[in-house]
Amino acid sequence: MELTVVQGDIAQQQTDCIVVNLFEGVTEPDGATGAVDRALDGAIRGLVSSGDFTGEAGSTALLYTNGRLAAARVLVVGLGKSDRFDLHAARKAAATALHAVAKLKGVSRFATIVHGSGIGGLDAQPAAQALAEGTLLAAYRSPQYRREPKRNGPEACTVVEFDEQRLAQIQAGVQAGQAVAQGVYGARDLVSEPPNILYPAEFARRAQAMAERTGLACSILGEKAMRELGMNILLAVSRGSKRKAKLILLEHAPQGLEQEQPLVLVGKGITFDTGGISLKPSENMGAMKNDMAGAGAVVGAMEAIARLRLPRRVIGVAVCVENMPDGNAFRPGDIWTGITGKSAEIISTDAEGRLVLADALGYVARFQPAAVVDLATLTGAIGVALGSQAAGLFANNATLQETLLAAAERSQERLWPMPMYDEYNDEIKSDMAEVKNSAGRSAGVAASAKFIEHFTEGYPWAHLDIAAMVWANGDKNPLVPKGATGYGVRLLVELAKSY
Ligand code: BES
Ligand code: MN
Ligand code: ZN
Repeated sequence: MELTVVQGDIAQQQTDCIVVNLFEGVTEPDGATGAVDRALDGAIRGLVSSGDFTGEAGSTALLYTNGRLAAARVLVVGLGKSDRFDLHAARKAAATALHAVAKLKGVSRFATIVHGSGIGGLDAQPAAQALAEGTLLAAYRSPQYRREPKRNGPEACTVVEFDEQRLAQIQAGVQAGQAVAQGVYGARDLVSEPPNILYPAEFARRAQAMAERTGLACSILGEKAMRELGMNILLAVSRGSKRKAKLILLEHAPQGLEQEQPLVLVGKGITFDTGGISLKPSENMGAMKNDMAGAGAVVGAMEAIARLRLPRRVIGVAVCVENMPDGNAFRPGDIWTGITGKSAEIISTDAEGRLVLADALGYVARFQPAAVVDLATLTGAIGVALGSQAAGLFANNATLQETLLAAAERSQERLWPMPMYDEYNDEIKSDMAEVKNSAGRSAGVAASAKFIEHFTEGYPWAHLDIAAMVWANGDKNPLVPKGATGYGVRLLVELAKSY
């Protein structure tokens, strides 16, 4: 959807629908909403006094102007209680409005004010960014594979600001919001794509095309290069697949910061996880197309970081492999030695994520990272512990952990800290190898993080288990429509701004 910023009076806009807002408890609207109310002979005040609309967060009301305004419809979106209002509420209000507008068959374009920048007291630029993010994240639609794609929502949105002084800030905020949303869209598209379309080489092509559009440096390691580097644990996972593994490297190095120690982001990119010889049950196995969501989030975050021109060196690594059973596949009982020289005994070929991460985390030591953060759909158990409300955070460094928790708060992409006690290592001791890739029944989640930790080398590191966060089953959060969530992109952008 196209967003444009104009100076003007929202009440005068020639468009299919105009969007204004109201705080809960307000009976006499002022500002832009007040002007629209007066033009409608008090229709908004009527809505409130009737009790049908209170301005509660998440609510909307629709009015028809019957020729009293150039636009045929007015949508009022509730901002909730003013003492609880913040950027998150502004972002959600924009998303709520978009969903309401998208339900209207006759609306192909609409105009909106910037929620919260008037009496809401938010600064114009972040408020405009929240408006753009909320609108665009709610408007996302997945790639379509049918002859008649589902009806599109509105195609264009005009952001209207009366005060000329604030126009530049609003323009900048909308642009930043668009940059972030493009990153989230990129991640959602990658996760949505079916696994026959999106296999490692196709993932690599798409990442490369994105890098060309945004000015990121991109290089791709094939299996030959990985073999020469000794990445045999990663390659073991790939043995059962006809699709060749790819390691995708993206670099954002702003001028003058080429030598800065980079923030390194590593994403698990299993384009399909059958479990391998430790085959998964067939029920709902199709969901395992999203086992590359960590890699998708890294690529999406790199896109947003490039578009935002963040003044920080960041390297993104997507480790793309398909995990399939086959006569050539790796087996439970195998022992493989990877790039770090450490060996891993395979207990389950379905614990493949930690195996590809082992070699990726060994590989990135060469960048002398300021910090490494990996994102992985690693365990079903993390969803049992935390549901879909937060990803699990495992860190070996307090500063990195605090910075991540703060970034999670700002992005509302939640993280919850999990323990990393050394005693968990007892669960993954192997008789013949340095570690084994699966523990017994207890502490499966912690053991997965401890396994990965063995392959980190001297840098601050955090592991985010995002398995329960990457796919939304309902429309509970207006920012996250059903389907691929793009979880992690906004979190990583906030991290790159602050670490
Ligand atoms: N990709 C899965 C984890 C997963 C499960 C993600 C459900 C999303 C939803 C991972 O590779 C896996 O299979 N993990 C196993 C680990 C076990 C074999 C130690 C699991 O969680 O069962
Ligand atoms: Mn698995
Ligand atoms: Zn997996």
